[in-house]
Amino acid sequence: MDSFSLKGQTAVITGAARGLGLAFAQALGEAGANIAVLDVIDPEPALKQIQTDHGVKVEFYKTDVTSREQVAGAVERIMREFGRVDININAAGIVKDEPFLTTSDENLSKTFAVNFTGSFLVAQACANAMIQTHRQEIDSAKATPNSPTPIHGSIVFIASIATHISTTAQRISCYTASKAAVRGLVKPLAMELAKHGIRVNSLSPGYTMTDMMRGLQREQPKLVAQFERETMFGRIGTPEELKGAVLFLCSRASGWVTGQDVLVDGGASSWKHAATL
Ligand SMILES: NC(=O)c1ccc[n+]([C@@H]2O[C@H](COP(=O)([O-])OP(=O)(O)OC[C@H]3O[C@@H](n4cnc5c(N)ncnc54)[C@H](O)[C@@H]3O)[C@@H](O)[C@H]2O)c1
Repeated sequence: MDSFSLKGQTAVITGAARGLGLAFAQALGEAGANIAVLDVIDPEPALKQIQTDHGVKVEFYKTDVTSREQVAGAVERIMREFGRVDININAAGIVKDEPFLTTSDENLSKTFAVNFTGSFLVAQACANAMIQTHRQEIDSAKATPNSPTPIHGSIVFIASIATHISTTAQRISCYTASKAAVRGLVKPLAMELAKHGIRVNSLSPGYTMTDMMRGLQREQPKLVAQFERETMFGRIGTPEELKGAVLFLCSRASGWVTGQDVLVDGGASSWKHAATL
């Protein structure tokens, strides 16, 4: 059996209209998963292309992850339209560069609402949907003697390199704390959900070229050049370079991995790089 195959499974991915979330959707679609996307903006055409390229189902649900009502409505529709939820990746996120001493109430509440509360609400709705999915499988497995253990669930939170190391190039205490709060969910949820066969991990991307990075660069033109010096390879990462790690965390290949953070950063957090000498 291919332990990386996700054939027949359903993945709920937030923030996959573009950027890293879209790359995660491509990786999971290529592995055979059907994809349900929650985002507030219209998706790039590449999202629907996954359906054509890999023969999987791809649907978009315009949803603000900070709204419990909208999240519940979207996950209910997904259960009706896909019949199951097996995987949840929480990539929806926002960042604003603002010094700690003058961080605004607006930044504080918005950043925590999207990055932390949004991840919490979607993971909660998806975990309940996974339990419902598995209950049906367990019941039908019971009716069939010697049937294999039902497929288990996987939740992946998207944290950040910022929770591992600070950079002089950014003033993002508010963002960093929101992502640390997300990582704070990983171990207690792994413990609470293990009895339901659900694994919970986080992925911390390093500096990666996406629209989020382009937005930061517009305000600080030298930012990417600085980040390039901070990795061990003299460049920043591409969304494609995170696909392997996310597929690992979502598939049976990581069946014995839960409660962990996986940092994929081109070595940026592992040395005293030139930028700080
Ligand atoms: N790009 C990087 O270098 C980097 C590094 C570390 C962590 N991350 C994290 O990875 C994730 C993806 O980042 P990205 O670079 O692809 O950013 P991005 O801005 O390109 O994509 C983020 C997506 O989240 C969606 N989103 C924002 N608010 C939302 C809401 N309220 N409800 C639903 N969707 C919402 C956006 O519409 C967008 O499609 C984020 O959580 C980010 O913090 C990115």
